[in-house]
Amino acid sequence: MEIFKTKKPLLDFVERQKEMGKKIGFAPTMGALHEGHLSLYAHAREENDLVISSIFVNPTQFNNPQDLEKYPRNIKKDIKILEESGNVDAVYIPEISDIYPDVLESKEYDFDGLENEMEGKSRPGHFNGVGTVVEELFLQVKPDNAYFGDKDYQQLAIIKKLTDKLKLPIKIHGVPIFREKNGLAMSSRNQRLSAKEKESAKIIYETLVKVNDWFRVITIPEINRRVHDIFDDQPGMKLEYFEIADETTLKQTDFFYKDRSYRAFIVVHVGDVRLIDNMHLD
Ligand code: PAF
Repeated sequence: MEIFKTKKPLLDFVERQKEMGKKIGFAPTMGALHEGHLSLYAHAREENDLVISSIFVNPTQFNNPQDLEKYPRNIKKDIKILEESGNVDAVYIPEISDIYPDVLESKEYDFDGLENEMEGKSRPGHFNGVGTVVEELFLQVKPDNAYFGDKDYQQLAIIKKLTDKLKLPIKIHGVPIFREKNGLAMSSRNQRLSAKEKESAKIIYETLVKVNDWFRVITIPEINRRVHDIFDDQPGMKLEYFEIADETTLKQTDFFYKDRSYRAFIVVHVGDVRLIDNMHLD
């Protein structure tokens, strides 16, 4: 596996691959790799000649400085995981100045309102930070296909919008959520949970499964009430938000229409770890 720690050799490598007509699949990450990432690479492997990943903890997408500071980092371990996966041909681990050559600031984007829902309300500026780093990585890596987890479903929708608006010739793929045995969605943040917290956090997935059972059987306000009741009873946990939203507009809804698709979105704090999850509703 090739390892690029600065922009110039990465650009040369990409150019050579493009000249040879290689189809590039790309999965950007912030490191602390887990099986969810491995499933992105496995999908990329199937559909491309060459798979590139990146590891870059992007400061501008953290609106909470403590969250940035506590974000797990272990490059050596990540490189070993990438090598052992056998599905990654090159990893790009840029310097901050490779992504932000002038100022460490986000660009301002208009994602047609997608940025104002859910995470947009809770984490102001977050999606401008994500847009800035993903646009820059796309311009450098020039992938044909790019892979993102469905776990960050709003991020996925926003990256699709970014790619459309900038008319980038990149196909964006959402990859199904990879879960721990107990149902907890795989996340780099799970590394910060104690074994006990990890076990109790399965209630997040269990709740989403119940919501799916209740959907179209009881009203959405009643579902919201039941979800709040579940988390009111959980010691050490705090429900930040729960919403049922239209899968395309991401707008919260209190009613459902037969011809639209809906998804349940949830954020729960377990101790001081913020966990996010979602589920398509049948
Ligand atoms: O999902 C992530 O890991 C990050 O938000 C991303 C897409 C790599 C941008 O920093």
